[in-house]
Amino acid sequence: MNKQDVLKKAAAQAAIEFTLSRVCKSSIIGIGTGSTANHFIDLLAKCHQNFLGTVASSKISENRLRTNGIKVLDPNDVSELRIYIDGADEINSELKVIKGGGGALTQEKIICAMAKEFLCIADDSKWVKRLGKFPLPIEVIPMARNKVARELVLMGANPIWRQKFLTDNGNDIIDAHGLWPIENPGALETEINQISGVVTNGIFAKNSPDTVFIASPNQITTHIRQDKT
Ligand code: 5RP
Repeated sequence: MNKQDVLKKAAAQAAIEFTLSRVCKSSIIGIGTGSTANHFIDLLAKCHQNFLGTVASSKISENRLRTNGIKVLDPNDVSELRIYIDGADEINSELKVIKGGGGALTQEKIICAMAKEFLCIADDSKWVKRLGKFPLPIEVIPMARNKVARELVLMGANPIWRQKFLTDNGNDIIDAHGLWPIENPGALETEINQISGVVTNGIFAKNSPDTVFIASPNQITTHIRQDKT
């Protein structure tokens, strides 16, 4: 395991303790996607008797949950999730986030919106002053890919099609480079989502985390969203 992975696992371990303090035997947990979420899934396997089941934000996470003996439910059969746990590509001090490096942003946003609480976990390389150095993932309907790309250019972005990749929904991903610094993540999230052909983009400003755990070599730092305190 490299140093970054050790930190991801430490954040996931802290998230296990936090999650167990929130759930009861009838609780359903939302599970994100990515290498940090994978650590969380592997650790969760040891305590699956403490909750009812999970919903997954991707086929990859679903398979990993099942392989670990954890029950996975269809989101359509669930009315509320007690908590959603996921990683991130960038997080700023206002706890606005960019996600979607793994291409699961649409399901992540849906599951996040179903959850009472969102816990985001990451190693310290993800903590940034301003969002946008990480190219912003945007899920698009395939027939609209070039049209959306042209509109992104007008907004000052350099859109790159993530070739040989299809989302779990059968759509394309455009990675919008050159948007740094994103001064108003909430406004940009809305503006891009209003382009016809866009399914959603990877800014989580509306659905920003309630709590963030950042793992650095000596500690886990907890950040709580201001309007929550
Ligand atoms: C997947 C995501 C991931 O949470 C994000 O890319 C972080 O991944 P990792 O935990 O592997 O660093 O949004 O769509």
